[in-house]
Amino acid sequence: MALNELDRVEILSLQDNYIESTAMDDSEIVRRARNVRDGEIRNAIQAEHGFSALVRMTREGRTKTLLFDFGFSEHGTAYNADALDVDLREVETLVLSHGHSDHAGGLKRLVAKIGKKGIDIVLHPGVFKEDRYITRRGEKDRFPRVSRKALEALGLNVVATREPRPLLDGDALFLGEIPRTTPFEKGVPHAFFLDRGKETWDPIEDDSSIAMNLRGKGLVVLSGCAHSGIINTVLRAMAVTGVGKVHAVMGGFHLSGPAFEPVIGLTAEELRKIGPDFVIPCHCTGRRAIMQLEKAMPGQFILNMSGTALTLRA
Ligand SMILES: [Fe+2]
Ligand SMILES: [Fe+2]
Repeated sequence: MALNELDRVEILSLQDNYIESTAMDDSEIVRRARNVRDGEIRNAIQAEHGFSALVRMTREGRTKTLLFDFGFSEHGTAYNADALDVDLREVETLVLSHGHSDHAGGLKRLVAKIGKKGIDIVLHPGVFKEDRYITRRGEKDRFPRVSRKALEALGLNVVATREPRPLLDGDALFLGEIPRTTPFEKGVPHAFFLDRGKETWDPIEDDSSIAMNLRGKGLVVLSGCAHSGIINTVLRAMAVTGVGKVHAVMGGFHLSGPAFEPVIGLTAEELRKIGPDFVIPCHCTGRRAIMQLEKAMPGQFILNMSGTALTLRA
């Protein structure tokens, strides 16, 4: 599936887990959110356990915009969009990486700000699975349900697909269901759902990602939580697009917590083999994995923050 070659990709994190306003590390690529402006606190960006990214793709002088994931709390991502002076009416399509609340929670406010009826929300149909929960110290944390009806009630056109699907005339690609091929990416052991009342392990098969193709540089892969495995995700993006070079791997890699810490090293090693120019772990990657990835790939590592804009150029 051919992707258009882009001149520029800008990824603005409208929500991520971390912020450090004193880093002073702006560069050609990184633009951090500013704290105060004109003597007013207008840019106090919020960090939450959630993810939302505004992706602007430029080709032949024209920029198209998609919104990938919507953050956790009802207001958090919309608040950050205001603080960053982003006019969300530029958004032309929505993508939901998977059905978990830390990616879907802020949708309603954002749709109101986008202010259009009938725009697509592209997702895997597994998003609509009911009665999902994770177990924690013997207790069940149930996820709020994402329903097709609720999305349609917001005026969205639901595009549910297991297959890869071009977005915005091929400027980006929704990867669809991601085959689990690596031996060490085994999903979330404590994720379950009720299948006709019976507790069943949830493979979170709805977990998908998007990819873009930067001219002369290669793929930019953006994941939500990468419950499918970040290596599986990148391999899938390469296989579907036929592009062998990876420029950037960004998003939640979900390597946080005791179930995942044993495979941080393997993930870093496989990522090093793939050899992206940039690795940008966000959200649920977790502190330990982020530190280890920085150590394994110091020249490629970029620390992401809530409110940070990254500009990748051809
Ligand atoms: Fe998730
Ligand atoms: Fe997440």
